[in-house]
Amino acid sequence: MLRDRLNRPVRDLRISVTDKCNFRCNYCMPEEVFGFQYKFMPRANILSFEEITRLARLFAELGVSKIRLTGGEPLLRSQLDRLIAALHDIPGIQDIAMTTNCYFLAEKAQILRDAGLNRVTASLDTLRPDLFQKLAGGHLQLEKVMDGLRRAADVGFQAVKVNSVIQRGVNDTEVVDLVRFARDNGLILRFIEYMDVGNLNGWNMAQVVTARELIETVSKTFPLVPLEKNYSSETANRYRFADGAGELGVIASVSQPFCGDCSRIRLSADGKLYTCLFIEDGLDIKSRMRDGATDEELREILCSLWRKRTDRYSEVRASHTNKPRNNKKIEMYQIGG
Ligand code: GTP
Ligand code: 5AD
Ligand code: SF4
Ligand code: SF4
Repeated sequence: MLRDRLNRPVRDLRISVTDKCNFRCNYCMPEEVFGFQYKFMPRANILSFEEITRLARLFAELGVSKIRLTGGEPLLRSQLDRLIAALHDIPGIQDIAMTTNCYFLAEKAQILRDAGLNRVTASLDTLRPDLFQKLAGGHLQLEKVMDGLRRAADVGFQAVKVNSVIQRGVNDTEVVDLVRFARDNGLILRFIEYMDVGNLNGWNMAQVVTARELIETVSKTFPLVPLEKNYSSETANRYRFADGAGELGVIASVSQPFCGDCSRIRLSADGKLYTCLFIEDGLDIKSRMRDGATDEELREILCSLWRKRTDRYSEVRASHTNKPRNNKKIEMYQIGG
């Protein structure tokens, strides 16, 4: 079986289908940098559905069973249902999920569900319309995100998750409200520790609200009981509410890094493979495909990339007093988290 240098298998393929996003989250695509005029990648640079499916099929042969679609915002890629249907047909793929900001989910949920999408994870950092506009873009309506979330439940996606990034002094007073909202609506909330992804957000440790603090805060209102992970490479530490009203997760990638079990590989919209969320550049597999590489040749490239993988960025950062270690990292909107 294929293993990297730290004996980790490859199980989870995260595919960014576009670098475009209609949000301007302050920690990802700050409005000052990504104004109206900002030019996203030209269409010719973006992988076609056929190219993505071909790579996914090769990865499935090497051990991948889970696929997650990301962006930018994946719903901005047209005819996404066609891609989902093709991925769904690949032998060995057991789970197809999508991380989305939910803005266009209400109108697309049914067709994506019908095509074979199993799960959705929504990104939502605040329930306050004014703060939402401040954090994600002045033109946006929070109500559209809420519509998307409601629709996701209606069309039958199981266990809809919500990811909330908590930044100290920004939305940390909303922790309990977010939990209450998730409990009341049958959603699995997961807090994500604010990470030093990319180079644009001026991250520093003081802005991070740690998993420990989050759990302490929540427990005062909603007592929690720890749960086992669902699978060893799961990102979230899980808890259930003591009163039985669902579960909560905390993704402690800063304070308790989980590189030891990291079985994720990421494919960017322009066809590069990233073996870690924090590396500078990926392997340009698109050029090899477009130069006419056979499946056999591609398989060999994928295997040799994974076999030599040693990435464990978050663990290294944590062992160096939590200063960012690399000042030329891929941006979140290019890789989708
Ligand atoms: P499930 O498949 O539902 O278990 O979800 P997941 O945890 O694999 O995926 P999701 O995209 O919801 O992960 C949540 C967030 O955790 C991501 O958006 C990232 O911010 C962060 N994350 C995911 N994988 C990694 C990783 O390998 N390293 C680090 N540092 N953070 C990660
Ligand atoms: N730290 C933690 N999470 C982040 N995300 C984007 N940037 C960061 C960061 N710096 C989250 C988004 C979304 C997912 C793709 O990653 O909010 O939920
Ligand atoms: Fe926000 Fe995600 Fe868009 Fe980045 S890609 S601006 S985190 S919605
Ligand atoms: Fe995986 Fe890199 Fe995240 Fe560690 S820092 S869990 S190696 S993606």
